[in-house]
Amino acid sequence: MANISEDIKLEIKYRNDIESVISQYVNLKRRGKNLVGLCPFHNEKTPSFTVYPENGSYYCFGCGQGGDVITFVSQIEKLDYVEAVKLLADRSGITIPESGYDNSMQELKNRIFEINRETARFYYAYLMSPGGKWALDYLHGRGLTDATIKRFGLGAAPDSWDLLIKHLKSKGFSIPDMLQANVISQSSRGSYFDRFRNRVMFPIFNLRGNVIAFSGRARPDDPKATGKYVNTQDTPVYKKSQHLFALNFAKNDCADRIILVEGNMDVISLHQAGFTNAVAALGTAFGAEQVKLLSRYTKEIVVTMDADEAGQKAVRRTIEELKDSGINIRVLVIPDGKDPDEYIRKNGAAKFRALLDGAVSDIEYKLLTAASDIDVTTDNGRLQYLKRAAEILAGVYDKLTIDLYAGRLADKYGVSKTALLSQIDDLKKRNVRKEQKKEFDRVVTPRYDSGDINPDRRRYPRAAKAEESLIAILLSHPDLYSALKGRISPDSFITSLNKRVFQTICDVLDSGRPTVDIALFGEGYTPAELGYIVSLQNGVLAEKNAKTVLNDCIKVILEENMAVNAANDKDLSIDDWAAKMQQIAKNKKGE
Ligand code: CTP
Ligand code: MN
Repeated sequence: MANISEDIKLEIKYRNDIESVISQYVNLKRRGKNLVGLCPFHNEKTPSFTVYPENGSYYCFGCGQGGDVITFVSQIEKLDYVEAVKLLADRSGITIPESGYDNSMQELKNRIFEINRETARFYYAYLMSPGGKWALDYLHGRGLTDATIKRFGLGAAPDSWDLLIKHLKSKGFSIPDMLQANVISQSSRGSYFDRFRNRVMFPIFNLRGNVIAFSGRARPDDPKATGKYVNTQDTPVYKKSQHLFALNFAKNDCADRIILVEGNMDVISLHQAGFTNAVAALGTAFGAEQVKLLSRYTKEIVVTMDADEAGQKAVRRTIEELKDSGINIRVLVIPDGKDPDEYIRKNGAAKFRALLDGAVSDIEYKLLTAASDIDVTTDNGRLQYLKRAAEILAGVYDKLTIDLYAGRLADKYGVSKTALLSQIDDLKKRNVRKEQKKEFDRVVTPRYDSGDINPDRRRYPRAAKAEESLIAILLSHPDLYSALKGRISPDSFITSLNKRVFQTICDVLDSGRPTVDIALFGEGYTPAELGYIVSLQNGVLAEKNAKTVLNDCIKVILEENMAVNAANDKDLSIDDWAAKMQQIAKNKKGE
């Protein structure tokens, strides 16, 4: 969706020098004509984040993100594209004329917010009506007060296929917007139906207090229920990997510490018991985007999971995810296989606070659990355990922390602290070498070879390589476009991302612009895709070879395209088939 006129985008880029903008966030060092620094979008210890002042782009060889000054600001400030443009415009004193962009995306988002708010009201009203009595009884039965129910805006979805649709229609909302909000679905036969039926409803709010999604828990005695939870899928206002349940409530109360739990009910129970700094991941594994989000709000995270196998696995995954975030990590294992909600209801808030105060550090947790399958009463077992413990401590950066735990372990298991420390030191050196090798491999292996942003690449490596070279050439030698026009079109491209990129390049150059600025890829591409494009753009290619390589690329793409289409040849008419063979022959001659 093109929102902002291309000229405005370019104007903003010229006025906001990429080097000085990025320098406000990243410590950049000059390397040749480029600059490098530690990537702000992933954790690393050797710099792979590269800024190319020459063409106003950046690319991280570690995580593959890239783009231009506008996408950088939108990523780092967590703004959408239009907001980032506005921010840069303000900073550089440019006023965007009203006609400079259209607001259709923002307007859609606003309508979705309204639909969600009206839907939450509908569910709340139903909860409080006679039809919702079962749900209210259920929530009361789980110990929630009316004040809590109201504060979290809980509700109930009726056991009906269309009550919500009818309600939203009566309020003037359209079916396409309801679909976009994901509160209704369309059947394979084309009819529409309410997505949440006969469920207890938990609205999810963003930090500004807008309802952005719902999580619906099945009525316990519903034989028709499909799945315990049904959640809103990603929509224009909701990406579940970027949000946390109840962060809107917790955000003012979590500077020192945040409690991370698994379930919505756990969060609500904790808040009601006075732990208003609890949040939960939304039916997903806790991931990198959520780590970034939390690191802006808190110094310490207490990871709280059940004592069962699944809970412990989740703890390990979460600790790993948080490892380089700079956030202090502690682990609270709830005894007796309970979740926090059950524990609090049974034992009260004071007992839970005691558990919380006794939560161990992530290192202690790892050291404790590493002993679980070893018999440390034997010499052999002790040795085995100490080796594991040394591995764990070798992964710790802080020297004092290592010293502290090494001292404790040495005392407890009757070995010398010096021996233990020297073992840890050896392991550390080995790890550093491994790490360096890994980062080196990443730097010399261009990200665009990995095939994860352009999945078709795995099936059609030869075509993809040629497409990429062609794109790379055009980005740095747009003057060669005229030599290629008429010989190849986006339709000939085989892999879907490259096809899209080439289409954009053609559109830009056809519109008469002399060069293809990354800004013109604008909003239609993700940061990873833009990173891919930037990495192609900055791929080194000798000036004098460009034209020859371009011809080779065209040849290879057309050949591969024919090969892919050959499977369909049996459906061609004789005339079409003949024309195609002629074309292949021509391509082979390099015409
Ligand atoms: N979840 C989900 N989809 C499922 C199961 C779980 O999205 N099919 C998410 C929900 O956000 C849920 C969390 O994972 O809150 C934890 O799951 P679980 O422990 O099964 O649910 P509880 O919150 O404990 O629900 P209850 O106490 O009502 O059993
Ligand atoms: Mn539970």
